Amino acid sequence: MAEMASIQWFPGHMAKTRRMIQSNLSLVDGVVEILDARIPFSGRNPEMDRLVKDKPRMLILNKSDMADDSATQIWINYYRSKGYTVIKADCKSGAGVKGFLPAVRNQLLAELIKKRESKGMTGAPLRLMIVGIPNVGKSSFINRMAKSKKAKVEDRPGVTRTKQWVKLGDNVEMLDMPGVLWPKFEDQEAARKLAFTGAVKDDILDVEALASLLLEYLYKRYPEALKDRYKIENGSEGFELLCQAGRNRGMLISGGEVNTERAAITVLDEFRSGKLGRITLELPEEEQK
Ligand code: G4P
Repeated sequence: MAEMASIQWFPGHMAKTRRMIQSNLSLVDGVVEILDARIPFSGRNPEMDRLVKDKPRMLILNKSDMADDSATQIWINYYRSKGYTVIKADCKSGAGVKGFLPAVRNQLLAELIKKRESKGMTGAPLRLMIVGIPNVGKSSFINRMAKSKKAKVEDRPGVTRTKQWVKLGDNVEMLDMPGVLWPKFEDQEAARKLAFTGAVKDDILDVEALASLLLEYLYKRYPEALKDRYKIENGSEGFELLCQAGRNRGMLISGGEVNTERAAITVLDEFRSGKLGRITLELPEEEQK
């Protein structure tokens, strides 16, 4: 198996975000966590359940356009069976986003709404907190949902972002906070999957090792994708697969050797932009072990 150095996160960010979530929890009626549908387990924050305690929780499986649809359905069923309200979305095209408000009203906060109605308190806004690891599509989601373009206004260098309420329609408001939510990093298997999707900056990673690992992984699960895209027919060790991909794409340097760095960058870019097809990197039953 190809080797790669371990990936770390920053303790300062973790403490700050943890505090921010805890201190704002009392302001909201429910918590919405956005996940990458390709890694619905590894892309989850490991402390979320503990931090959120008994608030109603919703998961949005975003980037579903790049995930394997049958796997996404398996994850939806899995998380629903654990008591979450779950929808899938593609915030790039907007597909699935219109299912959000009905899911909030009819599932996530249905009980609260009923309780308020029985007390004649129907006018109070329904308030949610949104959280997600970097690059998962949090801003894309808010910008699609927001009634005004407020979400992006303070996203400029040198301007301190503070928490703000964004109106989403149907009397639902969302608290957008500038916290950096960290993903599941305690096991390196999860860290690698995060890196495959681009959730970790490549400049701290060895791209050849990363692409080799990705190819090894894909060779086991989606061999057809490698055959179609890189004409890879056989092999099992990651670096060997990377060399095959580079050679078949004509990425050679003088002397006929494969330019493995170029091949690695290509493989990672193509995977991340969906050119290898719709791929999900994990399934619930594998994560139960
Ligand atoms: P963040 O706030 O959580 O950090 O994420 P953000 O919305 O900035 O999205 C990060 C990247 O993911 C963006 O791409 C965005 O377009 C893309 N993205 C968000 N949701 C989806 C989705 O459902 N499907 C797909 N395929 N992509 C999605 P980018 O390359 O950084 O920018 P750009 O392509 O928008 O120019």
